[in-house]
Amino acid sequence: MSAIASRQQAIAATLALAPVVPVVVVESARDAVPLARALVAGGIPAIEVTLRTPAALEAIRAIAAEVEGAVVGVGTVLDATQLAAAERAGARFAVSPGATRTLLDAADDHAIPYLPGAATASEAMALLERGYTHMKFFPAENVGGAPALRSLGGPLPTLRFCATGGIALANARDYLALPNVAAVGGSWLTPKAAVAAADWSAIEALAREAVALR
Ligand code: 3PG
Repeated sequence: MSAIASRQQAIAATLALAPVVPVVVVESARDAVPLARALVAGGIPAIEVTLRTPAALEAIRAIAAEVEGAVVGVGTVLDATQLAAAERAGARFAVSPGATRTLLDAADDHAIPYLPGAATASEAMALLERGYTHMKFFPAENVGGAPALRSLGGPLPTLRFCATGGIALANARDYLALPNVAAVGGSWLTPKAAVAAADWSAIEALAREAVALR
């Protein structure tokens, strides 16, 4: 098996762990461990920590080192330097909202399984050409939602998507019912207010509710 095929297989296995991949924005690294423990306790092991805050890499390091059962990934990877830094911090998968040639070249040179983003048939075809069968569909709700993803499945039946962007409990099932959806991503499992209040049991309850989607 080629390196990219085996990394895509690892992505498939990660997306199969639960119906939802929480997209997490960590303002303070000290929240990371209890937050990840709450998600894992609720049945959600794969967690995407976005590189949108200065605390993100430290949060990834802490979760990787301290949270048993967590599969911590990195999100919002925009360049090769970030990909390398997140891999060094212990991220076990990486996600981007889109893809660039530079980033795909970098991903070819790194062991970390990579989930690039696509929003159109042409973007998905470009990724397929490079060996990607799994991709993030972003921003899902704004580019046609579940009906658009269903339509992409006609000409591109071998592709599997993690749909993200505007998805929450109310519409997640529309996506999860599609044969080309491996999982959905979303920030609704970790509301800002719950994190600020260190209300980890609320986050665990949201995780449980998400697991029950499938
Ligand atoms: C992402 O990076 O995947 C999105 O910001 C998450 O989208 P959501 O906040 O609409 O769930």
